[in-house]
Amino acid sequence: MSDIRVIIDGREVTVPEGTTILEAAKKANVKIPTLCYLKDVGLKGIKHDIGSCRVCVVEVDGKPDFVSSCNTPAENGMVIKTNTPKVLAARKLNLEMLLSDHHLDCTTCPKNGICELQSLCAELNVRAIRPQGEMKSLPIDDSSPSIIRNPNKCILCQRCITACKVLQTVDALELYGNGFDAVVRPKGGIPLIETQCVNCGQCALVCPTGAIVERDDTWKVWEAIADPSKHVVAQTAPSTHVTIGEAFGLPVGTDITGKMVAALRRLGFDAVFDTNWAADLTIMEEGYELIHRIKNNGVLPQTTSCSPGWIKFAEEFYPDLLPHISSCKSPQQMFGPIAKTFYAEKKKINPENIFVVSVMPCTAKKYEAARPEMNSAAKYWNNPGISRDVDVVLTSRELIRMIREAGIDFANLPDEKYDPIMGEGTGAAQIFGATGGVMEAALRTAYEVVTGKTLPKLDFEDIRGMKGIKEASVNMNGITVKVLVAHSLGLARQLMDKVRAGELKDYHFIEIMACPGGCIGGGGQPIPTTVEERELRINGIYERDKKLPIRKSHENPEIQAIYKEFLGEPLGHKSHQLLHTHYIPRGKNN
Ligand code: SF4
Ligand code: SF4
Ligand code: SF4
Ligand code: FES
Repeated sequence: MSDIRVIIDGREVTVPEGTTILEAAKKANVKIPTLCYLKDVGLKGIKHDIGSCRVCVVEVDGKPDFVSSCNTPAENGMVIKTNTPKVLAARKLNLEMLLSDHHLDCTTCPKNGICELQSLCAELNVRAIRPQGEMKSLPIDDSSPSIIRNPNKCILCQRCITACKVLQTVDALELYGNGFDAVVRPKGGIPLIETQCVNCGQCALVCPTGAIVERDDTWKVWEAIADPSKHVVAQTAPSTHVTIGEAFGLPVGTDITGKMVAALRRLGFDAVFDTNWAADLTIMEEGYELIHRIKNNGVLPQTTSCSPGWIKFAEEFYPDLLPHISSCKSPQQMFGPIAKTFYAEKKKINPENIFVVSVMPCTAKKYEAARPEMNSAAKYWNNPGISRDVDVVLTSRELIRMIREAGIDFANLPDEKYDPIMGEGTGAAQIFGATGGVMEAALRTAYEVVTGKTLPKLDFEDIRGMKGIKEASVNMNGITVKVLVAHSLGLARQLMDKVRAGELKDYHFIEIMACPGGCIGGGGQPIPTTVEERELRINGIYERDKKLPIRKSHENPEIQAIYKEFLGEPLGHKSHQLLHTHYIPRGKNN
């Protein structure tokens, strides 16, 4: 491909043929505002440039009309002007047109402060809305346990459609109708809960307005904390350890574990525990399950089960392949029943009074906690007075809001340690937060259990990072164990189609995370979440793994203690009662 030369605001710049005006301007250090455009929707190369908002318009010499820079290729010799009075006025008018039927209640909007539309109005100095349009008055869709849709705030940019259809291949959303009546809605106009939506929240992550947001459950937590009869415990997911700080001005990927523990205590939690502890427990169960399947000709490849968006995706689109999925619950759902059985017994607390709050990167975790079968503690005690295993799931964004609401100076908090019994987590558990991490953690334990030898090198670099599908192998007592890793459901679909076609018979284990980059890119994480931010968060995860004194799940003393004192052995009777689950074939044909 040859190079071309263009002149942007009087500056000459050379770019490869095919470069858009927007990209060429960036190279010339000229910033053109954008709204609907999104580079790399979750994964590099998934571009969204439908050109619907016309905020990025520029003048090109010789062309009668403005052109949208985000999807117009630069041409050799083009003379482009990005900030003439006419261009600035056109951009403003285009923005005002979008605002003319927009429910402008910014002060109470869930996106207040992180809304791209709001920021752009400030940036472009919009001070009045001249075209006064008819207001839409469409019903809010709050049918989903994870996602709330307010179509009255939708600017029809369709980023959510790209995230759902191209990145995740779920295709639950559509653009319907024309002109003023156009609307982005769940396919067929039915409530979101009735679609094949997997609750991943990638649509909420890319929506530039308050039209798609996570369900806010913070009030339930405030009420539980204020109730003196409740013993409220928190668990914090591995990825949150390196993401929450962004909202408080700390560099992306900063390890804020100690500050998060301190903040949760100041919010009034009675005990603060770590989902990393439960991730180590998951590795014990999942690693032994893999060894059991390999030794006993079980269904292979085994696939991981930690990502609830992936589980719903498999139930919807691959019901025939459910036997491949590990029966282990996710760490969140292992933590809940153990808090209401083992911990309750140890601390002599009535399990009816224990209230479990999870801090998760993920909107789908809300859905997972609400699944009817996730009430193992009540079944264990045969007591319907015990509430669900996990009572409330807060996303990272919701915890950030609670910390702000309470006026806590997060960035200056001292580091505090988790409470004992369910608070110790290893480096293996920490890496659950990044794509490839569950697999690497499982291999660290499985190798040592199977061979009885120390793993010579703990780091499985081949399965780390934002690359597409990743692969590794390791020799265990003469068997070459082959593994694959996929992140995002589009890549998961590629692998599962191959499993279905019988092409992956010589593989043993597949890790799938619904979100690009793994949990660090979850639908509940701080916004924005770009590919570059996902990479920095991943670096933060591996830095913390290196720093931790214990880096293998089976060496966690608190995990060794729970097997000795309560569970007996991995895959034993109590484990099956509390830590394993089953799946439900869904989808159009089930
Ligand atoms: S979506 Fe943005 S612009 Fe619209 S009300 Fe909410 S904060 Fe304001
Ligand atoms: S939550 Fe995920 S599956 Fe559901 S509509 Fe949004 S992107 Fe699609
Ligand atoms: S819901 Fe959000 S992302 Fe989807 S079209 Fe509307 S504004 Fe854009
Ligand atoms: S950003 Fe280019 S048309 Fe919207």
